[in-house]
Amino acid sequence: MKNKPLYLDNAATSFPKPEAIYGQMAEVLKEYGACPGRGSYGMARKAEAIIREVRQLLADLLAIEDANRIILTFNATDALNMAIKGVCQAGDHVVTTLMEHNSVRRPLNQLEADGRIRVTRVMATPEGWVDPQVIIHSMRPNTRLVVMAHASNVSGTLQDIDRVGEAVRNTQAVFLVDAAQTAGSYPLSVERSAIDLLAIPGHKGLMGPQGTGALYVGPRVKLTPWREGGTGVFSEDLLQPKQFPYYLEAGSPNTWGMALWAQSLRFIKDLSIKKVRQHKVEVMKTLLRCISEWNEVKLCGPKDPSQRVGVFSLSCGKRPPCELAAELDAEFDIAVRAGLHCAPDAHRCLGTFPQGTLRISPGYFTQLDEIAQFSQAMQTILKNNALNNEVLHQL
Ligand SMILES: Cc1ncc(COP(=O)(O)O)c(C=O)c1O
Repeated sequence: MKNKPLYLDNAATSFPKPEAIYGQMAEVLKEYGACPGRGSYGMARKAEAIIREVRQLLADLLAIEDANRIILTFNATDALNMAIKGVCQAGDHVVTTLMEHNSVRRPLNQLEADGRIRVTRVMATPEGWVDPQVIIHSMRPNTRLVVMAHASNVSGTLQDIDRVGEAVRNTQAVFLVDAAQTAGSYPLSVERSAIDLLAIPGHKGLMGPQGTGALYVGPRVKLTPWREGGTGVFSEDLLQPKQFPYYLEAGSPNTWGMALWAQSLRFIKDLSIKKVRQHKVEVMKTLLRCISEWNEVKLCGPKDPSQRVGVFSLSCGKRPPCELAAELDAEFDIAVRAGLHCAPDAHRCLGTFPQGTLRISPGYFTQLDEIAQFSQAMQTILKNNALNNEVLHQL
């Protein structure tokens, strides 16, 4: 009997999306055909209204006071580049961690290679946890930016951003949080965590389409735009208008994507992030129980669901993760990821470099019987592995 296809790669992008997204697709394409903010006729006003609604929904979900300080981007990478390159100036010092994704690591590495900034990278424990005290003690008088992920996309480890944020707030530096693995999945408040800059993707936990994301820019931040151009308003100004969001948004936006994103944001708002988290914790507990029964499998990151998000990295003895992922795909129609997951230094901390890990990331729509389906597939693979090893041993 053919297996039911199973998608467990929600850390990369969430799938499936809420039904409302699919249901609204044709209407969105027909109704949101004009450029927002570029005309006073009905269709342009409608496009402008949906973009404004996305900003407001995000502000409500992330406890942001001024929705105009939410800059719409194309993904989290776009938001992180805008933040890092807009804040850092020649001679600045930056504190970050070794758990970061390449979308933080590479822009910082390039600025450092160009001789513009100095970077201190704080090590994580083998569980992927970074001590906030070490981050705070790494700050210098010329530290302009502290940047870290809220949760690792390799080990799922949640970091104590509240403690870091509180300490950074008492300095000249600003605090940038990469919420790629938590926005929509875990309660977040820029107020509570003293976050100055928050980078989020629209297409992961916030369940929107690819090509959507946002950057929140708090009032303490001085940021130079890296994208300048038409805004549809203040057109007579010689330079980019200083008013938000126009200061950092130029050019025609992804209106169709934003209109679809509005559907998933409404879905999450009606449901509540608390409920999303509760379901994900249930799924995590079940998966953790299964993993604990597989002798030859080692889990990276915390075993306590309260200290993690639903991103599970596994090492399976000598069997390369890419082989396992290929077997899960070919034999069981199960989609998981293998390798370094764009975070090589994180693997150095976790002891899984250079081979990487097998990454399993359930989403909000993953059901407990699907975890059982995955578990059965893994048990079959592990049993066959053991049999093959035995035969090799006897030869
Ligand atoms: C921790 C982290 N940061 C940043 C990104 C980049 O996100 P995007 O694909 O939206 O650019 C990812 C993507 O997986 C991620 O996991």
